[in-house]
Amino acid sequence: MQKITTDINLAINSLKIGKLVAIPTETVYGLAGDALNEKAVEQIFILKKRPKNNPLILHISSYEKLQEIVKNIPFKAKKLAKKFWPGPLTLVLEKKNKISDAVSAGKSTIAVRVPNHPLTLKLLNSIDFPVAAPSANPSGFISPTSASHVSNFFKDGLDVILNGGLCSKGLESTIIGFEDDNPILYRHGAIPISDLEDCIGTIGKKIKNDLNPSSPGMFSRHYSPRTPIILINNLSKYIYENKHKKIGVLSFENKEGFTLATKHEILSKSGDINEAAKNFYSALHSLDSKNLDIIITTLLPEKGLGKTINDRLKRAVAN
Ligand code: TXA
Ligand code: MG
Repeated sequence: MQKITTDINLAINSLKIGKLVAIPTETVYGLAGDALNEKAVEQIFILKKRPKNNPLILHISSYEKLQEIVKNIPFKAKKLAKKFWPGPLTLVLEKKNKISDAVSAGKSTIAVRVPNHPLTLKLLNSIDFPVAAPSANPSGFISPTSASHVSNFFKDGLDVILNGGLCSKGLESTIIGFEDDNPILYRHGAIPISDLEDCIGTIGKKIKNDLNPSSPGMFSRHYSPRTPIILINNLSKYIYENKHKKIGVLSFENKEGFTLATKHEILSKSGDINEAAKNFYSALHSLDSKNLDIIITTLLPEKGLGKTINDRLKRAVAN
């Protein structure tokens, strides 16, 4: 059994001897291990059941540490890092040899960020190795935004869960890569792309399987509850026509009552997109624990963080 604690020294001691710990960040909890320790890296893949070809993401304490692990830093990457770190921005850059191919899944690049959470920043400042930390969920499932989400997923395999409370952003970092020094969006995330473009100008878009957003089948399944989940336009109609089912509703605003629904999670009563983002994974975890027949939901307005939540919803319902 893992210990749930706020004592960073327990987590530091475990990391130093190659054990895995869960760490809080402002986005989601990470499943952390010493990125320079082969055994720890291997354990992360095993515990998460993560395919070996899906690279890990590194966490460092400050921009100054970046040059220890990457070869060169394009001007626009530096500009972004200076403005958004610590924060939910991940940069994909050419790695130095000290970062193993196991971490990068054979790629020449590595994903890296400085997370913005006081406990985790303190932890990273107290160690002299980068920490590999993909989201602390089994591959394909809902990301964890609280310590109890993590402990529900992993009964064994983790030494310590560092309890940093609810994640303040609630969505994973935005990932930017560079091709010939030109910035490319690899994943929508907690920083809207327009904020990044305000800093460095136009960013190319290259999101895996995002060829046809109107066709959810194009998305590989991820961020998914165990309960079946569908995206529909008219929630009320579905509820009315399926009275015999135990239905969970995930909705953005508080527009309708849905009195016939078994469970209703409203992401933000006032329609605030930041509040909705913060509540998104928690609401999914909560609905998934209620033994429902189905979860029904709709897409949000496709702007700002709505794009990120819609990306996660389309993947959650994909086959
Ligand atoms: O907010 C976050 O990014 C959280 C917290 C814990 O930092 N972490 C997270 O990790 O979301 P994960 O592993 O669930 O997602 C990282 C993503 C994966 O989709 C992975 O494929 C991508 O980053 N990635 C990692 N290295 C990459 C690389 N060299 N090139 C392109 N994508 C990469
Ligand atoms: Mg993940």
